[in-house]
Amino acid sequence: MTELVVRRLLIDLDQPVERHWCGGDAFLTAWFNALSMSFPIGEQFFIDSVRAGFKALPPEQQAPLRDEVQGFVGQEATHRRIHALFNAQIEKHGLTNHWEPRARRRLARMDGADVRHGVAITAANEHFTALFAEWMLAHPELLDGCEPRLKTLWLWHSAEEAEHKSTAFDIYQALGGSQAWRLRWMRRVTVFFLGDALRQTVSNLRADGTLWRWSTWRSAARHLLGRDGLLRTSYTPWKRYFRRDFHPTQQHSELSERWLAANAQVFVRVGSSA
Ligand SMILES: [Fe+2]
Ligand SMILES: [Fe+2]
Repeated sequence: MTELVVRRLLIDLDQPVERHWCGGDAFLTAWFNALSMSFPIGEQFFIDSVRAGFKALPPEQQAPLRDEVQGFVGQEATHRRIHALFNAQIEKHGLTNHWEPRARRRLARMDGADVRHGVAITAANEHFTALFAEWMLAHPELLDGCEPRLKTLWLWHSAEEAEHKSTAFDIYQALGGSQAWRLRWMRRVTVFFLGDALRQTVSNLRADGTLWRWSTWRSAARHLLGRDGLLRTSYTPWKRYFRRDFHPTQQHSELSERWLAANAQVFVRVGSSA
């Protein structure tokens, strides 16, 4: 079991955010903005799914997971609240969030479904988030040109995603979820997640007037497909999810713990699962 601490981030998101806040890089800014646009609705779905899955467990199986679930809910609730503040700032740049209404329509179709589906979708998304978090924490230099508060926002979120990457997966296993559905949902989530992320990034770039700049495409190629690019480095760990004996803790790294230990001055603990 993982001890999940809920932290309140000491950053001010009432102040405006620069148009190309990610070190002046239009592509990276549009990409991060797109991801942030998906967080409030996505993370609410993860909270609801994990809660519903937990409730469906018999009491003796709930007991060992109770603290972890509480920590998971606290962390994701904090993320969605802070990203909603960030999103309110970037929407002042004339961006429109198309991802959220699309996700809302899709999720409405899940009403009344077996709780294990929501938990499997959450576990698949959490694997994606964990891969993204690992990449961010391994390449903090991408955020070197950002204001410190925004660099803190993204690295704090990454560190906590790495911390709670097993919660949904463990609930799914405890619920006796099948291997076939776990993999089926991962395939679907991969298509939806990449499709939605790319569509929203293109929409953000179009609104920004930087879609057809050479520098935008060069940055996209380098940061997604280059040697240290997100998609290239994440492919092998993404594939591991399809192994029969996969568990999120197999991808342990110390980057999250190290970042949290080195940056204790930027947050306060508001609760812990302990
Ligand atoms: Fe999160
Ligand atoms: Fe998460």
